[in-house]
Amino acid sequence: MNHGFLTRLLLLALLFSLHDTGSLFAQQSTTERSASNKYMGRRIAETMHYAGAPWLVRESREREEECTKLLAALEVKDGQTVCDLGCGNGFYTLKLAKLVGPQGTVWAVDIQPEMLQLLEERAEARGVPNLKSALGTATSPNLPEGEIDLVLLVDVYHEFSHPAEMLAEIRKSLAPSGRVALVEYRAEDRTVPIKPLHKMSQRQVMKEYKANGFKLVGQYDELPWQHVFFLARDDSPLEEVELKRWKRGERDSEAGEDEATSSEFEGVRQ
Ligand SMILES: C[S@@+](CC[C@H](N)C(=O)[O-])C[C@H]1O[C@@H](n2cnc3c(N)ncnc32)[C@H](O)[C@@H]1O
Repeated sequence: MNHGFLTRLLLLALLFSLHDTGSLFAQQSTTERSASNKYMGRRIAETMHYAGAPWLVRESREREEECTKLLAALEVKDGQTVCDLGCGNGFYTLKLAKLVGPQGTVWAVDIQPEMLQLLEERAEARGVPNLKSALGTATSPNLPEGEIDLVLLVDVYHEFSHPAEMLAEIRKSLAPSGRVALVEYRAEDRTVPIKPLHKMSQRQVMKEYKANGFKLVGQYDELPWQHVFFLARDDSPLEEVELKRWKRGERDSEAGEDEATSSEFEGVRQ
């Protein structure tokens, strides 16, 4: 018997001796699994690794993204229960905790335990008594049902490897008049220095959210780089509003649907 054949035979035997070959795949990182995935014509982006967390709290973020304006547009009220879903190291979590005050609660959810650890370190230094954190999975944020007044999704929805499952769980977590604030980099705007894979168009957002039982109840388009959509359950008492299309101009494109593959922009979001 030749030596190479014997080695291959041994490797095969080893593979079959594992009780659950599925677990090999379960151990694949989210990054690998989602890289080839598509949802409703859109390529799903890979998860941002926790090693990139310093970028989320970079000194230039306020100047580039006008985060203070976004926070004001959320109209968070004292005593509310809000969730920063895909919180990373908590750039928005800690600001939300201040806005809801001591009577309110902020839930911080991320799929990477390392991100939650980084958030906890930042929170500890500041003392944040109204913070609760939950480790999410690819299909659920593990939130309590019917309690959340606002779910904030900043630069994360396009990374969900299982968007429909996540939206079903988010929908369940909302209080009767609860809202989702979806914040994504504008695919229509070529000047936004972010790779196309990490952007979303208005058309794609509305297609995906409507298909999953949501309606548009508000919109904020005054940020330099990002769209903000306010969405509610389609059976919510909140009134549906019509989408205002992003102002077309020579710097805009029709990009955003299944064409986000070019490396035309070596954007800051790798
Ligand atoms: C680009 S970061 C944005 C972090 C934060 N929202 C911010 O703006 O500073 C995206 C984060 O979403 C998390 N994430 C991706 N998929 C997720 C999921 N299904 N559930 C919870 N978190 C998720 C990633 O681990 C990562 O920390």
